[in-house]
Amino acid sequence: MCGIIGYIGEENSRDYLISGLEKLEYRGYDSAGILVFDGNRMKYEKAKGRLDCLKEKIKGKELDGAMGIGHTRWATHGAVTDENAHPHLSEKGMFAVVHNGIIENCEELKQQLLSEGVGFKSETDTEVIAQLLEKYYSGSLINAVSRTCEQLEGSFALGIVCKECPDKLICVRRASPLIIGKGEGCHFISSDVNAVSRYTDKIYKPGENVISLVKKDSVSFYDRDLKPVEYEAVTVFADSLSAEKGGFEHFMLKEIYEQPEAVEKTISAFDFETVKKKINLQKVKNIFITACGSAYHAGVLGKYVIEPLAEIPVQTDIASEFRYRRPVIGEDTLVIIISQSGETADSLAALRLAKEKGCQVLSVVNVRESSVSDESDCVILTQAGTEIAVATTKAYSAQLAVMYLLAVHLAFERGRIEEKSKEVFLSQIEQIPESIREILRRESELRRIAREIKDSGHLYFIGRNTDYAIALEASLKMKEISYIHCEAYGAGELKHGTLSLIEEGTPVFALACNDTVFRKTASNIKEVRARGGRVYCFTAERYADEIEGCESVTAIPEFNPFFIGSLEIVPLQLLSYYTAREKGCDIDKPRNLAKSVTVE
Ligand code: F6R
Repeated sequence: MCGIIGYIGEENSRDYLISGLEKLEYRGYDSAGILVFDGNRMKYEKAKGRLDCLKEKIKGKELDGAMGIGHTRWATHGAVTDENAHPHLSEKGMFAVVHNGIIENCEELKQQLLSEGVGFKSETDTEVIAQLLEKYYSGSLINAVSRTCEQLEGSFALGIVCKECPDKLICVRRASPLIIGKGEGCHFISSDVNAVSRYTDKIYKPGENVISLVKKDSVSFYDRDLKPVEYEAVTVFADSLSAEKGGFEHFMLKEIYEQPEAVEKTISAFDFETVKKKINLQKVKNIFITACGSAYHAGVLGKYVIEPLAEIPVQTDIASEFRYRRPVIGEDTLVIIISQSGETADSLAALRLAKEKGCQVLSVVNVRESSVSDESDCVILTQAGTEIAVATTKAYSAQLAVMYLLAVHLAFERGRIEEKSKEVFLSQIEQIPESIREILRRESELRRIAREIKDSGHLYFIGRNTDYAIALEASLKMKEISYIHCEAYGAGELKHGTLSLIEEGTPVFALACNDTVFRKTASNIKEVRARGGRVYCFTAERYADEIEGCESVTAIPEFNPFFIGSLEIVPLQLLSYYTAREKGCDIDKPRNLAKSVTVE
């Protein structure tokens, strides 16, 4: 998390830094700061709160300098205060640092520095880095950076300014993203290509532990042993249009409405021939899908589709669990990593573990220029475009489409379905975007439901099979943006404990779209109603009249049960949106969260 931006050139860096931070705010938004260096003085401002608070604070202030660094923070070490916001300066003011990541041995390092008489101003791990740089600096910048990095355990991307080196901006990364943008007579450093895409589409992607000395007209790179290494600038595609709200009140709503296009583009770009070239499918005996949050939920749905269609064992794991539970995987395992950002620390660690164990790794990623894409054997790009709202919608829908396509192609490849069935399934998948459009066009009762539930303390989502996978995602969507406590349960599990939570008036969202389990879920709905639960049902059109006694029945167009989840999730996303709106929540930037989780 946290976003880093830096500029070195001939113009004043201040506006470049602010415009970069605007694009990076999705990475963290509890405080922000910038520092500019004019060759003599380093001047900085930091402010707790959104970037707007910083913008307000710097209004009318003299902050000039052709080199500068900026940061938007998602707090890890230390509370959200002005003092803990970045940049952090070393005690004597020789170094200023912005940092994304977590230094795991920071306490040890800090104690050592304290015992040497160094004074600290903040509670952050980043300040330790600034102090170490000052400690090790004796005229050679790269030596100081290298010795400092040797001391650090954990993950970091650093932007560093040294008072004695006004012509160089320094950056280095380990397990955190950082790119260098090559502009006209200037260079940028950034956590994300999109923050500099307005100025350049040429970027350098230095590897881990490579120290980059960035000047206005050149960049030199040094490996861990301080030997010079070469990098070529590559041309990248960045999606700048997505960063506008286009008349919608929130990015989340806009992105919900962009789902048909996201799914359509993902389906047309899907190329199984490439998968076959890069992954030896003959070797694959089992599949592990691993990811975090909503991407994990896409994987859960994937399991419900891939396993029965392709008749291959599929397991799904939360990446942060997978990486530490010593899974039994090997050369015959295909590990599928799903990630919108391609930078999620736990998913990346799961990927690396899988490679270490000799597995083949296929990733489903929305950001082409990302660590997960770079390190996978094969990448399937979802074509959702840039997603700005912290709560994912269109990327998740695109991930579902990939799960279905993989299921059908694997089933055919393994001889489990005939060519004809394959074509039927594929044409059904192709109809998903139009059916989502139809749902988005329909007048629905969702706003009324949102008003009814907005003051609830707890909400439950139940379903079986693919409906359960959707319940997990619907529950996460609702809790993350409306702050209402929600839980998702397999409908058949209720009687094993959870039913005790249901009392008169408890709202329960029953998802019953998958007709292979409809009757079973219908019985569970009765069990809930018999205990006074207020049931809001989402079901396939043909069953809408059969459901009785519910507060509302939302009918989902008829669809193949394997794929109906893609339609079912849309009203549930809208419902969480309207509920959060009723409550006046900050929908695009929910409290305590960040879009890209690059720390463990
Ligand atoms: C929820 C959400 C998160 C992400 C999760 C993984 O709306 O967006 O749960 O799905 O943090 O992120 P990626 O997909 O970037 O790996």
